[in-house]
Amino acid sequence: MYKLMSCLLILLLMMVSCSQPVPEEPNQYHLIPLPQKVVTREGKFHLKADTKIILTQQSEETGPISEFLRQFLKEATGHDLEIMHSSKPENGSIFLTLDPSQTAPEGYTLKVDTEQVTISAKAAAGLFYGVQTMRQLLPVAVEGPASHDAIIAIPNVAIEDTPRFSYRGMMLDVARHFYTVDEIKQFIELLVMHKMNIFHWHLTDDQGWRIEIKKYPKLTEIGAWRKETRVGHAGDGSSRYDGKRYGGFYSQEDIKEIVTYAKKKFVTVIPEIEMPGHSQAALAAYPKLACNPGPYEVSTTWGVHKEVYCPKEEAFGFLEEVLKEVFALFPSKYIHIGGDECPKDRWKECLDCQTLIQKEGLEDEHELQCWFITRMEKFINDHGRKIIGWDEILEGGLAPNATVMSWRGVKGGIEAAKQKHDVIMTPTSHCYFDYYQSEETDKEPLAIGGFLNVQKVYSYEPVPDELTGDETKYILGAQGNVWTEYIPTYEHVQYMVLPRMTALSEVVWSDKQNRNWDDFKERLKVQLKRFDAAGINYAKHSLTKPSAGNEKNQ
Ligand code: ACM
Ligand code: ZN
Repeated sequence: MYKLMSCLLILLLMMVSCSQPVPEEPNQYHLIPLPQKVVTREGKFHLKADTKIILTQQSEETGPISEFLRQFLKEATGHDLEIMHSSKPENGSIFLTLDPSQTAPEGYTLKVDTEQVTISAKAAAGLFYGVQTMRQLLPVAVEGPASHDAIIAIPNVAIEDTPRFSYRGMMLDVARHFYTVDEIKQFIELLVMHKMNIFHWHLTDDQGWRIEIKKYPKLTEIGAWRKETRVGHAGDGSSRYDGKRYGGFYSQEDIKEIVTYAKKKFVTVIPEIEMPGHSQAALAAYPKLACNPGPYEVSTTWGVHKEVYCPKEEAFGFLEEVLKEVFALFPSKYIHIGGDECPKDRWKECLDCQTLIQKEGLEDEHELQCWFITRMEKFINDHGRKIIGWDEILEGGLAPNATVMSWRGVKGGIEAAKQKHDVIMTPTSHCYFDYYQSEETDKEPLAIGGFLNVQKVYSYEPVPDELTGDETKYILGAQGNVWTEYIPTYEHVQYMVLPRMTALSEVVWSDKQNRNWDDFKERLKVQLKRFDAAGINYAKHSLTKPSAGNEKNQ
């Protein structure tokens, strides 16, 4: 009997100790992107109803961070924590403090002890990222509304962290399909979860102009609406259309709301106004901006279109007025001017274009495109901003201060860096999240083509081997692109970006030598549970091969 009792006691003790394991390996915290340095500790901090958030330096930038944390914890736990302003930590508090002795502009340290949580950073952005890491130390259920009135434990840990790249971006095309203001905010929330900091907003294209410009109301009266949309894949040989008018646009008030929303979360919104190509929707509204009189219609199908701006004074005047309104709406240092996929057919046939080529002593239409971009760059630089363009802007000569977005592979990025121009890497091979994520395409929703799974994204190295020493500093970072020809709903956007974006977040944040696919895969399993808790859609089969009978649509 005595023996039995002692056995039961030992078993009970084992069960108790098993139920509260102390994490020993950094990855047991399941943090993504992986921080630079994680030191595990024994014990836990208990977050309760009387836990205080103490913010040392209240400012326009830090205020929203404590507010974010308060709101997040309120939704997750039901506890509405008090925010205090004080320079001293207190036991039982979450202490947020700026520390000028730290050097990394976006770095932070996070210390969880049984008594208190301390997040310190050189600047507000780092504090915000520290809060995001703390969020991942909480149980998965906090991402949903499930754990009300819970006492939540945060495992003790000491973390030092800073991102590898300053540009950690995601592009969303809202021209091919339109997403609501609320959905754009949800997209920004995805960036926040992944410590990404650039939302590249592709606002204009052949199939829709999506930004209100007060001086040119027809851009949204006419240019934001197409009479119908191509059904099926553009290359499938059929020509079926759905017969449904489609469109939408963001008012200037909507845009201000989104830019302000993003700013509070340390996300910069970079607008893209396409020129000289991908401009048919603008030409439908104002045909006189083209080489020929038109009329033109907002495109109803996908692909590269021949109708482009004519490089004449009228078109430059228009673009400059548009950009003045864009400058007023977007405080970002960069304005993206597109520059990709501009067929030269119309310029070859246009007398004005040919006269201009002669007058300016240009070699051909490629040099005319360079002349066009350089002229627009000057205007943009004169207004204190810088341009980003797709890698076609290298053809015919690079505008003097341009940043290049390398998408047709990495060649453009290498060439630009060697010319001492900043570069953002976004090659189709690793960064095009409109590609299929499985080789069994018949089990996937219709996509543009290609194949890019999460493991391949994870394997991406943004700094090409061809660059040496000083040249590597021109690689500012990388970006995932979501072109939306075949992505009609926001739920489908989530499916396409997750978890590929999760993999990319580690590529752009974490140290190269710390990256390990097998380790990431384990952490990703927990991250997927967070998406489940938050009701966020993702490619469920991303870590397994889809089997027969898998749901075709998500
Ligand atoms: C692009 O994919 N046309 C930049
Ligand atoms: Zn012309």
